[in-house]
Amino acid sequence: MTAGTHPESYLPAMSAIAREAGALIMQYFHQGLKIEYKGDADLVTAADRASEVLIRERISNLFPSHDVMGEEQGLNDRGSEFRWYVDPLDGTTNFAHGYPVFSVSLALEQRSDAGGKRIAGVVYDPTRDELFAAELGKGAQLNGKAIRVSKAAQLKECLLATGFPSHKRHKNPNIYFYHQITLRTHGVRRAGSAALDLCCVASGRFDGFWEFNLNPWDTAAGVLIVEEAGGKVSRFDGSPFRLDSRETLGSNGLVHETLVQEFQEIFSGRGLEPLPDPREYRT
Ligand code: 2AM
Ligand code: CA
Repeated sequence: MTAGTHPESYLPAMSAIAREAGALIMQYFHQGLKIEYKGDADLVTAADRASEVLIRERISNLFPSHDVMGEEQGLNDRGSEFRWYVDPLDGTTNFAHGYPVFSVSLALEQRSDAGGKRIAGVVYDPTRDELFAAELGKGAQLNGKAIRVSKAAQLKECLLATGFPSHKRHKNPNIYFYHQITLRTHGVRRAGSAALDLCCVASGRFDGFWEFNLNPWDTAAGVLIVEEAGGKVSRFDGSPFRLDSRETLGSNGLVHETLVQEFQEIFSGRGLEPLPDPREYRT
């Protein structure tokens, strides 16, 4: 492809960039790394930075006019109608502890006066060599094969996922949601990469996912992949999701309304009971 042209599909270029960045972070993963702190418990490593440098270089070679918003370097705004959302390493805490659950997430948005629409996204898990991809209106794939969300229609047959971002942890209400939803489902996983959690909803491994306070680079690709796999993503009250919503609720669509109702009840105070007595649990 010639630099600066508009390809029919952005996915081949995006996939190649995500795979290259994934290979780079695996090199760092095998070496072991020095951890640095961005905030109290917010980690960053040399791998996050190097991956973002590589991704920006590839994008600017292929699409020099495009804008890029990346987690480590922020937004370079040239006023382009195209904007990339880049998480060079989603799941940094896992990565830094040697726990192999992390990904590279890239999404492309086309902007207009009417708002932006995300037209393509990929999430690459280099530890399993799994590449999730979607294009607006064209479905979602895992390593080139079409994927669909699950068919679970009742909460009690669902496996869900959530996460706890490091920012202002003491103020995060999510532990109440974790507790209540755990009691009503097969369980709630908190694996540590929101982009991968969304892809697990898209591929039917999870039936739903929610998290407070995610950033646009965490969700931009995964949300499109869920929607293109037949799922639904909204805010916690069921209203339309936006990249700046700070509330992400994704599901297979079938249990979406039930989850919205559960969330409303938890927000209104259900579950704020005294701690159960551990002696009762023993018997
Ligand atoms: P990261 O690894 O790229 O930082 C974990 O629940 C999810 O929250 C991960 O996707 C993680 O992405 C993200 N996350 C971690 N710290 C965060 C913060 N301070 N604000 C928003 N999201 C965060
Ligand atoms: Ca990151």
